[in-house]
Amino acid sequence: MNLKILILPGDGIGTEVTGAAVDVLKAVAKKFGHTLELSEGLLGGIAIHKTGSPCPKETEELAQKADATLMGAVGLPEFDNAGPSQRPEAGLLSLRKVLDVFANLRPVRTYPELVESSPLKNHVVQGTDMIIVRELTGGLYYGQPRGIDNDRGFNTMSYTRPEVERVAHTAFKLARNRRKKVTSVDKSNVLEVSQFWRKVVIDVAKQYPDIQLEHMLVDNAAMQMVLKPTQFDVMLTENTFGDILSDVGGILAGSIGMLPSASLGETKGLYEPVHGSAPDIAGQNKANPLGAIGSVAAMLEYTFGLVKEAEAVNHAIGKVLASGCVTADLRPKGKPATTTEVGQAVSGAL
Ligand code: IPM
Ligand code: MN
Repeated sequence: MNLKILILPGDGIGTEVTGAAVDVLKAVAKKFGHTLELSEGLLGGIAIHKTGSPCPKETEELAQKADATLMGAVGLPEFDNAGPSQRPEAGLLSLRKVLDVFANLRPVRTYPELVESSPLKNHVVQGTDMIIVRELTGGLYYGQPRGIDNDRGFNTMSYTRPEVERVAHTAFKLARNRRKKVTSVDKSNVLEVSQFWRKVVIDVAKQYPDIQLEHMLVDNAAMQMVLKPTQFDVMLTENTFGDILSDVGGILAGSIGMLPSASLGETKGLYEPVHGSAPDIAGQNKANPLGAIGSVAAMLEYTFGLVKEAEAVNHAIGKVLASGCVTADLRPKGKPATTTEVGQAVSGAL
């Protein structure tokens, strides 16, 4: 199979983790007899520096032409005081919108080898295996009106029925191949938009009588995730809530550097580790590449339907964790491995 993939390293550790992930991709292609057609583009702060725009037209076109896109991270401290539309993050947001990748799948699992890496007690995190389905192209991130002036700053959280329906379908379908439970997270005790969300999710659920649906308020959900994460199978939620709760997921998994994600629409797939650009450790070959490598596994599965290949990558990740070759964020007992070493170990384990 020919795999046409766009790589967008972005900023900070984005370059390092995508470098390791591409090496793993090459190893997979070699082992399973696939050809890679890779292109590279600019996104985020580096794109602002080189072109003036966080998501240049050329990047959009490359992404439209590719079967799938792998993104590293965006964000640079020098843009901290810039307005939302002038920031590196705006590049990622417009790419998500252009590709219409409305469902962001963020699996959170605690590998047995990593129970000690999480600051939470072992018995709490042990056995965690959940997936957050975050709505990605609506809500507060995109709602109009929005703005800032001297005396007021404002954003709008709004969802239409089709927007909620399509992402809810994604969640229910995923649950079918898992433990058949969906927890829809909202703030319906305060927000109209959440009351509407809940109503639409209940309607969609009628088409999935085999799936158990429960509703949870977002504040409680944040607490339940650190109290008893094993109660969750599929967690369905809107954009901002999903952004926040998935960082909590990083604590369950041992490090946010562990978390992969797949952003899916009707046609395109964008694959992005959940972590940010981590300017404090950028350029030091210290970053955990496993979130990016896990995103490659997700790409193989969801865009290309290469389930065996995806399993091989995930299996290799498990083996590397068991071998103890992990970066500093996972708090290894011995000397921490570098980004490159972890990448090579995964390729080797394949
Ligand atoms: C994420 C990130 C992004 C988001 C930023 C970089 C725009 O935090 O993917 O979780 O808020 O969606
Ligand atoms: Mn985030």
